[in-house]
Amino acid sequence: MSGGLHQKYLDESLGEIPESMGILKSAWRSPSNIALVKYWGKKPLQIPANPSLSFTLTNSYTETNVTVRQHAGNEQELEYIFEGGHNEAFEARISGYLRNISTYFPFLTGCKIRIESRNTFPHSSGIASSASSMSALALGICSIERQIPGRSKDEDFYKKASYMARLGSGSAARSVYGGFVSWGRMEGFEHTSDEFATPLAETAGSAFTSLCDAVLIISPDKKSVSSSQGHALMDDHPYASGRYLQASENIISLRSAIIENDLESFIQIAENEAFTLHGLMMSSDPAFLLLKPGTLKVLSRIQQFRKEEGIALAFTLDAGPNVHLIYPGYERGKVLAFIRDELLGFCHQEQWIDDRMGKGPEELPV
Ligand code: PMV
Repeated sequence: MSGGLHQKYLDESLGEIPESMGILKSAWRSPSNIALVKYWGKKPLQIPANPSLSFTLTNSYTETNVTVRQHAGNEQELEYIFEGGHNEAFEARISGYLRNISTYFPFLTGCKIRIESRNTFPHSSGIASSASSMSALALGICSIERQIPGRSKDEDFYKKASYMARLGSGSAARSVYGGFVSWGRMEGFEHTSDEFATPLAETAGSAFTSLCDAVLIISPDKKSVSSSQGHALMDDHPYASGRYLQASENIISLRSAIIENDLESFIQIAENEAFTLHGLMMSSDPAFLLLKPGTLKVLSRIQQFRKEEGIALAFTLDAGPNVHLIYPGYERGKVLAFIRDELLGFCHQEQWIDDRMGKGPEELPV
């Protein structure tokens, strides 16, 4: 493991845990996010190959309740309930994650942990459930730690939660904050890091304060290639070094566009990033294609509409066929009519998710 934070969090973990710490509980609501500059390619321990920039959503979130109680054995026992039932695949992932972060939270080792989680959005809807679920869980575990007597009520609570969320899913590191968030070291920006995300410190231009995201569900089918497999294919990708350089330049330009209220540059960079992400997939070895014919039709309709109507709207894509239509809130009336009249016909059962930029996670009463 690398970095001063690793050592800091290890040192913090070494304090005595009281014999009986009783039952500790936490509950968090954490939203997903959509990347505008994409994280695609990583080094060991979820260190990104390039910096990424996203904005956090409002309506697409995970709520996670965590209950931790000590028990007689030294083994960790996990009960994981997803949307009221058992889900073996998720449970295996969460169990691996908890074992992994127990290095920093050794009290988890001798505990019974019950986790209940639910999402407000369907799977494979083009919304990253790993970002919302892993950030909700990381926040929950950090909250539990904070309740143990003698533990620091760390002023860097969110930084630590972002660090821990990253270990579960890279993009989850960004969901710990609201608004525009970057993750990954950016040349000339001292406060940025590969280990945790940071919110945009400057005020965004007026067009960007009410940013909306209409997620158009072209296909709800499970992806044929997972994000982890996609990241791994970047290791030997012939365009990898050029891509990482491009992302580092795009993030600086996008950040300036947001601050300077430059919608034109914003649109150009966002769409370039979406095409690049899928271009990288199509040029991997083996190559893979996640786009559907309906995706391409929607993308070209969006570009045409922008040209004809002079409305500042952009698309982006995640690792899947569904389209994120990004637009300033003041264009909402016209954009909703456009979606209804021209895009819903390309959507699976006319499904879409009406979302917008949000303030970030919220601690819930337990
Ligand atoms: O966090 P992961 O490992 O699921 O990777 C996310 C990758 C993209 O969603 C395609 C891009 C991003 O930056 O969120």
